Amino acid sequence: MRTYLVTGGAGFIGSNYIHYMFRKYGDEIRIINVDALTYAGNLENLKDVENRENYTFIKADIRDREAIEKIFEENDIDRVVHFAAESHVDRSIRNPEIFVETNVLGTLVMLNAAKKAWELPDGSFKEDKKFLHVSTDEVYGSLEEGDTYFYETTPIDPHSPYSASKASSDMLVKAYWDTYHFPMNITNCSNNYGPYQFPEKLIPLIINNALQGKKLPVYGDGKNVRDWLYVDDHAKAIDMVQEKGRLGERYNIGGHNEKQNIEIINIILETLQEMLPDDDPRKKLVSKDLITYVTDRKGHDRRYAIAPDKIKKEIGWYPETMFKDGIRLTIQWYFEHEDWMKNVTSGDYQKYYQDMYQDK
Ligand code: NAD
Ligand code: TYD
Repeated sequence: MRTYLVTGGAGFIGSNYIHYMFRKYGDEIRIINVDALTYAGNLENLKDVENRENYTFIKADIRDREAIEKIFEENDIDRVVHFAAESHVDRSIRNPEIFVETNVLGTLVMLNAAKKAWELPDGSFKEDKKFLHVSTDEVYGSLEEGDTYFYETTPIDPHSPYSASKASSDMLVKAYWDTYHFPMNITNCSNNYGPYQFPEKLIPLIINNALQGKKLPVYGDGKNVRDWLYVDDHAKAIDMVQEKGRLGERYNIGGHNEKQNIEIINIILETLQEMLPDDDPRKKLVSKDLITYVTDRKGHDRRYAIAPDKIKKEIGWYPETMFKDGIRLTIQWYFEHEDWMKNVTSGDYQKYYQDMYQDK
């Protein structure tokens, strides 16, 4: 039975990935989820898998070398899928240090622990061991309207402390391939959306605010473009890259679904109106009047757009979920998980929201 070590599995994409993997492989695999449970990590995301015999949760920080090495010593890990990171650009602008600590140093700890466990005395690696580093298209910087796309060969040119820290971790992972032939892949994915996304990110923030009749903050002119991918399509791509990808390679993942932020907000408002029953009191609150233009994000990247040609050609992956379907699935999930939203938006989140948006 293959054993996966998933880092950051209690976050948005990690928890969706764990669900995806159990749906796909059932009892054929074992998953160990290591997560420090920061503000973004939530074990409620994994309630329906927590009692599985082939699932284990370990609360540990990826910066904690001893704790991570112990996991490798006590378990014969076959696959590492490394999601754990600080992931929000706005937070990185306010507090860059933790991004370097977690995203760069934490990745280094993961690489060293895996290398120590998998390396043979002659410097080669045990057979069929693989490390997949989950990264972002933001490492490529920013495109303008009419520019081409991000390819795997596009020079790395990050602008925010978040993307700089992810780019640095990508470089370390690549260096482990170049230097040691460490069995790795890197995936650079575009913006994800779907269930369990923390409401500091655009799509869940807009859904949550609109349903409460709260202002919908649009940064700058609202015309920044992101390339949105439904999270299950990302989970599938990660699995396919790990099983079919060429070791040492980077693969871009994206859905050719570029939209301006203001378009996204309008689609959400229209879809909410369609989906809410007439007698639901929230229907009256959802309105375009809530759209509020606020001060732009510092260094705001204009456009991200992925060319997923390589992953399509070499691996046969393509996105299956159209945005119009994915956004309905996402909104339906938030309708059905009001308690989840209440829990994650209480306490610390309220303070964050107050601090982040009060001057905008
Ligand atoms: P998230 O913020 O929702 O989750 C991050 C998880 O990592 C949380 O569970 C958190 O508790 C955990 N974590 C943070 N610091 C940790 C530490 N020091 N030790 C152990 N665990 C720690 O993030 P996400 O949106 O799910 O993103 C996951 C990964 O995918 C990140 O590496 C991110 O850069 C990448 N990514 C995200 C997107 C996106 O649109 N969200 C797109 C492309 C790539
Ligand atoms: P976000 O979800 O933070 O993802 P990223 O910055 O990693 O792409 O933001 C997506 C886009 O939405 C980005 O251009 C910033 C914009 N945005 C707003 O206009 N208002 C908001 O309140 C937030 C959180 C984001």
